[in-house]
Amino acid sequence: MNSKIISIGSYIPSNTVTNKDLEKTVDTTDEWIVSRTGIKQRPIADSSQATSDLAFEAATIAIERAKIDKNDIDLIIVGTCTPDVATPNVGTLIQKRLGLSNFPAFSIEAACSGFIYALNIADKFIKTGESKCALVVGAETLSRITNWDDRNTCVLFADGAGAAILKPTDDKGIIFSELGANGEYADLLHVPYGTSRKPEKSSKDDYFLRMSGNEVFKVAVKTLEEIAIDALKKSNIESKDVDWFIPHQANVRIIQAVAKRLELPEEKVILSMDIHGNTSAASIPLAFDRAVQDGRIKKGDTILMQSFGAGFTWGSVLLEL
Ligand code: COA
Repeated sequence: MNSKIISIGSYIPSNTVTNKDLEKTVDTTDEWIVSRTGIKQRPIADSSQATSDLAFEAATIAIERAKIDKNDIDLIIVGTCTPDVATPNVGTLIQKRLGLSNFPAFSIEAACSGFIYALNIADKFIKTGESKCALVVGAETLSRITNWDDRNTCVLFADGAGAAILKPTDDKGIIFSELGANGEYADLLHVPYGTSRKPEKSSKDDYFLRMSGNEVFKVAVKTLEEIAIDALKKSNIESKDVDWFIPHQANVRIIQAVAKRLELPEEKVILSMDIHGNTSAASIPLAFDRAVQDGRIKKGDTILMQSFGAGFTWGSVLLEL
């Protein structure tokens, strides 16, 4: 039994910070940000919104579009590295908001790979018959762990959520999915301190994301090229048969390098970092939903998704919609 995405929904906060806005606060330019990253603006949650609020909005839209009874949902998995609180997990917070109970609901901590990790796990629950209807979410409020005085990171990160409903199918659905990680690279992209690790003397910068951008860039390109080629090979699918490539939206130059290696024309590459920025676990479902809503992605299309993030973690999913 395979699993299939039957609907997708997404939500971004209404407040937008543009590159021009950032020119006023840090030593940067719109030209630098656009040419180096592809980002033009980024949605930022207001102070009343936490990750579960964004996740709930995206989930509600996905449920409506799936035309299911929400009581059919028997599994919730949320990819996030910015949970509302240490506990309870964002999965159970959404479960409560949806008025549901008595089935597994949990969060996965895999940074930008959170949605792909969550999809992979939900696929396995469905394959084993343990779930008949799963809600999979990627949701983040990265603005809360971003140092707004650090031009190396504050131009990149953003807030948002995307959600998908998965059901068993006799069709192809998810054809292939594989995850990976290598903790050797942990210090290249990390938040030094947090819930249980505390500095001897605390400064607010200790709780924000730090990134060695250039080094992350190089490993990201190499890893993403390898896992994309691997996904196609193991699925017996040629890159010309891929209708859409939906990568994690970290940097347009990383995506272009991988697409070139796969010989995928740019029309098949879904980009959304221009308006969404890098929303970590939310970035793939946000880009996915954008392309479904504007009519590019249609039922029956073959889609390759791939992610890379802090840890480092990575993963790919190849599916027929
Ligand atoms: N505005 C203007 N200049 C900036 C800047 C900004 N916002 N941020 C950095 N710079 C400067 C640097 O200080 C450096 O200046 P120098 O040459 O005088 O030392 C110069 O720009 C080049 O910096 P570098 O870090 O080499 O740039 P880059 O081309 O690697 O781009 C990133 C930086 C962050 C956009 C890029 O490295 C990246 O996208 N990395 C990977 C992100 C990623 O995949 N993350 C994983 C998932 S979240």
